[in-house]
Amino acid sequence: MSVATESAPFELAPYKSLENDELSKRIEDVRKRLGSKLLILGHHYQQDEVIAHSDLRGDSYQLSQMAAASTDCRYIVFCGVHFMAETADILANRPEKLAERDSARVTVVLPDMAAGCSMADMAAIEQVEDAWADMSELIDTSRVIPVTYINSAASLKAFCGRHGGIVCTSSNARAVLEWAFERGDRVLFFPDQHLGRNTSLGMGITNEQMPVWDPYADENGGNSEQQIRDSKVILWKGHCSVHQMFRPEHVAMFREKHPGIKILVHPECPQEVFEIADEAGSTGKIIQTVQNAEPGTKWAIGTELHLVNRLKSEHPDQEIHFLSPVICMCATMYRIDLAHLCWSLENLEAGHAVNVIEVDDETTKWSLVALERMLQVK
Ligand code: 13P
Ligand code: SF4
Repeated sequence: MSVATESAPFELAPYKSLENDELSKRIEDVRKRLGSKLLILGHHYQQDEVIAHSDLRGDSYQLSQMAAASTDCRYIVFCGVHFMAETADILANRPEKLAERDSARVTVVLPDMAAGCSMADMAAIEQVEDAWADMSELIDTSRVIPVTYINSAASLKAFCGRHGGIVCTSSNARAVLEWAFERGDRVLFFPDQHLGRNTSLGMGITNEQMPVWDPYADENGGNSEQQIRDSKVILWKGHCSVHQMFRPEHVAMFREKHPGIKILVHPECPQEVFEIADEAGSTGKIIQTVQNAEPGTKWAIGTELHLVNRLKSEHPDQEIHFLSPVICMCATMYRIDLAHLCWSLENLEAGHAVNVIEVDDETTKWSLVALERMLQVK
């Protein structure tokens, strides 16, 4: 089935009043008609109704590998957040893939443009460039390797590509930092201070060697000149508003109430939680850890609510708790619902792709350098 090029775009509003059953049926109909030309990717934090329609689901690293490997698909509909769709556009449309497809681009769609990541928004390219210029007055920035967490805008990935740096995800942060220290003396890590700190502590780097750079501070990111000169890893002052809700007192409360319980957290959690947890890892690793556990294992899991609830229903033989008395969910991931998915798919099929994510050529070129470095790190 080919995609039509001329017909009126459908408005979103009527989709919002449709029942989920109707939306699901229409989504499946589009999937059948478009067949292998369409790839729906879903991040593990998506709600169950949406995940049910994804061809592939994964953590950020797995999803970027899937986008990079896509073969005959022409459309990727990304059920995740903005930086993930940008990464998919860069990887699915890299020069070797375009050559394989006679220059035909893969159209990447984010069903709701408001699905951003508040952490990614904590580092803007202008701020990072200003910080880099300020640092260069104190230290030799040719020996600083910039490392951006994949949860960042493409412009930051391009910055890393241009300056000998690299991208990391929560599943490869240690290997990436080792790669960086083979090539430089210091790392500038953005935007998530917690992933940067937790990973570096595990490599023997101390908190004294990790000043936090506040882009809103008057001078030196809020540090003394000496702190910057003594640094090994300069951490950006960014965080995930979901994961910072998990506290050490929640860990203590679960351990007291449920002897033998294991604490499993995402490395975006603050150091005080991360270092007392039993296990930690990316969303993919969290899933794998639960899948491999014996029946009867008790868990308190510190990551986004939708994933923890899905683990609970998929593993009734284990006792799974959410590691917080308050609801911590990623409100932006949650913006992708069946109405937006159905609306974007029907428009795509009708030849009026909505919410297309297309990164400009210059940003793509340099982001790709940093992303390919990451994909090669083992
Ligand atoms: P993962 O790469 O572990 O899936 O994490 C993505 C994310 O946004 C976590 O907050
Ligand atoms: Fe961003 Fe946090 Fe949501 Fe992940 S959970 S997408 S880091 S806001």
